[in-house]
Amino acid sequence: MTPEELETLISARRSNLLIDASREVDSALVDRVVTSAQWAPNHKRTWPLRIAVITGNSRRTLGDTIADAMAIHGDDEMKVAKTRGKFMRSPVIIVVAAGEGTTQNETEENKYAVAAGVQNMLLMAESFSLAALWGSPAKGANDAITTLCSMESTDHVMGIIYLGWPTQSVAAPLRPNIKITRLT
Ligand SMILES: Cc1cc2nc3c(=O)[nH]c(=O)nc-3n(C[C@H](O)[C@H](O)[C@H](O)COP(=O)(O)O)c2cc1C
Repeated sequence: MTPEELETLISARRSNLLIDASREVDSALVDRVVTSAQWAPNHKRTWPLRIAVITGNSRRTLGDTIADAMAIHGDDEMKVAKTRGKFMRSPVIIVVAAGEGTTQNETEENKYAVAAGVQNMLLMAESFSLAALWGSPAKGANDAITTLCSMESTDHVMGIIYLGWPTQSVAAPLRPNIKITRLT
């Protein structure tokens, strides 16, 4: 791959939820997307990445689990109801969490490492022409998600990734220029 090809891949990646929910993604492709996350850097080799791949009816279970937690948390009823079916919008859902560190700083850096892993996954998805979107987990649903996904209760859910074949592309949001400090 040339640097230009890498730049093209990076800039072509979009958050895209215009996904064909009825079209399966080969599990070998999903595995390659997930594996790319483990190649991200992580401080002190803490290997903080935690992953759950959710397909089929378990997507609805995830929605119900999060919706129930949101209801307990006092979230708006409409939002709760919408959450129940929202993970059916793509054939594959990837829950990504970061393991707790032995110190507060390590826990924080574990999250950076996992975020870098998510970007690897999004770029890998883009390389397969798959659509993906990094969604935020609902507030107050961490424990419910980690329990469902057989993770540790101390794991921090970083995102819920929608993955599938696109029905449409989306326009790139304009990027502001980067403010760069150059010290020479
Ligand atoms: C930590 C994080 C959480 C995000 N959560 C959501 C979300 O809950 N819903 C959503 O539609 N997009 C979410 N996004 C995607 C952003 O909205 C998207 O990256 C941004 O609009 C820029 O578009 P682009 O990814 O196509 O460049 C999230 C992105 C990040 C990094």
